[in-house]
Amino acid sequence: MSEKLINAKCEHCPDQDTEFGEIDAIIDIYREKEGCLIQVLHAAQGIYGYLPLPLQRYIADALDLPISEVTGVVSFYSFFSPTPRGEHTIRVCLGTACYVRGGKKLVEHLEKTLGVELGGTTEDGKFTFEIARCIGACGLAPAMMIDDVVYKQVTTSKINSILAKY
Ligand code: FES
Repeated sequence: MSEKLINAKCEHCPDQDTEFGEIDAIIDIYREKEGCLIQVLHAAQGIYGYLPLPLQRYIADALDLPISEVTGVVSFYSFFSPTPRGEHTIRVCLGTACYVRGGKKLVEHLEKTLGVELGGTTEDGKFTFEIARCIGACGLAPAMMIDDVVYKQVTTSKINSILAKY
């Protein structure tokens, strides 16, 4: 995307100065610190749930950085999301141990059950579905996480009862 296009303001969009004002205090705290962009993006995602392009532009302006630097960081780190995320995040482990013990089957089963592809969010906004690379439960593979809870020795038949808890 060209710098000019990214910097274009939409006359139909709400006033971004007011819409994203909540992040101003955080920007003021981190402004002079090394690596402040990542800290500000982290806080902004905590406040707004995700990092839409107008918010990235707002942060770039506030920190006096080129928008390309901000979009580059957001797209580099999988933690940052430019699109809305689900209420819960499912991460199926596809590290070696989990992969060989059926992790891929869990992914296929979840794609069918949730009706989304990897990286997607269910239509009802309940789940965002991602993969992980080892979550420290290799001895009881295959494993998956929902938010901070680790589920071990997961089978396709266990998945529905796990999802029902959410
Ligand atoms: S490979 Fe899945 S928990 Fe380690």
